[in-house]
Amino acid sequence: PAARKGCSGSGRCNQSIRKSEAKVVDMIDIENIAEKAAFCRCWKTKNWPYCDGSHGEHNKQTGDNVGPVVLQRKK
Ligand code: FES
Repeated sequence: PAARKGCSGSGRCNQSIRKSEAKVVDMIDIENIAEKAAFCRCWKTKNWPYCDGSHGEHNKQTGDNVGPVVLQRKK
């Protein structure tokens, strides 16, 4: 099969976040989420695992359309 070239073209999405770990996993207690929380899915945030808006510049530069997943309490 053809090699997949995602994210930066290298095939690696994660360029800088906790690279010493074999796999980046984050556990967040639901009780600790206030009204809502936005979690990064573009791997460009400076505030992992939260979205800091960096996806906007990434999308502009690459033509991508990634954005966060937002968890929100039912009203
Ligand atoms: Fe990564 Fe917003 S900064 S999804």
